[in-house]
Amino acid sequence: MKERIHQLLQQIEEIKLKTEQETEEFRLKFLSKKGEINDLVEGFRQVSADQKRETGQILNQLKQKAQEKWNEANQIFQGGSKNKFSQRRDRSLPAELEFSGARHPLAIVENEVIQILNKLGFVYSEGPEIEDDWHNFSALNFPPNHPARDMQDTFFIADEIALRTHTSSVQVRLMENQKPPIRAIMPGRVYRNEAISARANCFFHQIEGIYIDKNVSFTDLKQTLFYFVQQLFGEDVKVRFRPSYFPFTEPSAEMDISCLLCKGEGCNVCKQTGWLEILGCGMIDPNVLEASGINPEEYSGFAFGMGIERIAMLKFDVKDLRTYFTNDTRFLSQFKNY
Ligand code: PHE
Repeated sequence: MKERIHQLLQQIEEIKLKTEQETEEFRLKFLSKKGEINDLVEGFRQVSADQKRETGQILNQLKQKAQEKWNEANQIFQGGSKNKFSQRRDRSLPAELEFSGARHPLAIVENEVIQILNKLGFVYSEGPEIEDDWHNFSALNFPPNHPARDMQDTFFIADEIALRTHTSSVQVRLMENQKPPIRAIMPGRVYRNEAISARANCFFHQIEGIYIDKNVSFTDLKQTLFYFVQQLFGEDVKVRFRPSYFPFTEPSAEMDISCLLCKGEGCNVCKQTGWLEILGCGMIDPNVLEASGINPEEYSGFAFGMGIERIAMLKFDVKDLRTYFTNDTRFLSQFKNY
């Protein structure tokens, strides 16, 4: 009997089922009630006790093999060629999605900021990363000997040409080319000659926002930014404004939000202050409006700028800024649910 089983195993192995008819013949020959395998199963009763175990095992193997072979062919031919596809699968099942990558955390934050400000009517705009002195500094009211123009901070490419040190350069380009009302957000990469560490890099990303119209006031600035951080960090976030200085805004402020971790109690993240600094802002200096051809007697406006890395660090609890740029998939794949 064992010999017969081995013969059949080999025979089945060699058979190729190429048509529906061959598949059906295979079933009748091996798998049906009157088929060869059933004959063997019937004969199994007569196998002597000491052979039963071994014979049983290979008989099972044979049954399995034959069944698998038939299943495979039957899947293909079942139902005939006319509607073989409709029969093969349940087409109403949702597709299984393959993991195809994750968005970069900086892109996630950038998109979110753009979406929130879009709702307030701010439109997307962008400008070049290689800038001239006028757009990056002079038009923004930087005095000729201002330290920010220094080689320490700025990567100069040629005389009066540099990698932009902030996205405020795009403000100038917009003001030069459009008539108020202007309401825009300008995300992009900026460059500064800094020693690379967990908290600083030689390039990073900012989002700039401006709003210029008749009668724009500091109240509009405050309310816009308050709404913005509530949308980004949750309704119960608090804000405070501290006086600050930027050459291109007057008055200028830095905005803090209540610490997301300790809710203002004081912890390591906020250095026990309860507050986190997240952006710089102010009313656009009349000199800046004038330099771009906008009449400061008629129009006023506000501007704000924030670092995307910093916001993403707060949002995702990232401790070292360098991890954004090392392309380690163990880090990047954590963001697949966003
Ligand atoms: N450009 C400033 C910076 O890079 C940020 C800023 C933008 C401040 C707009 C005020 C208004 O630090």
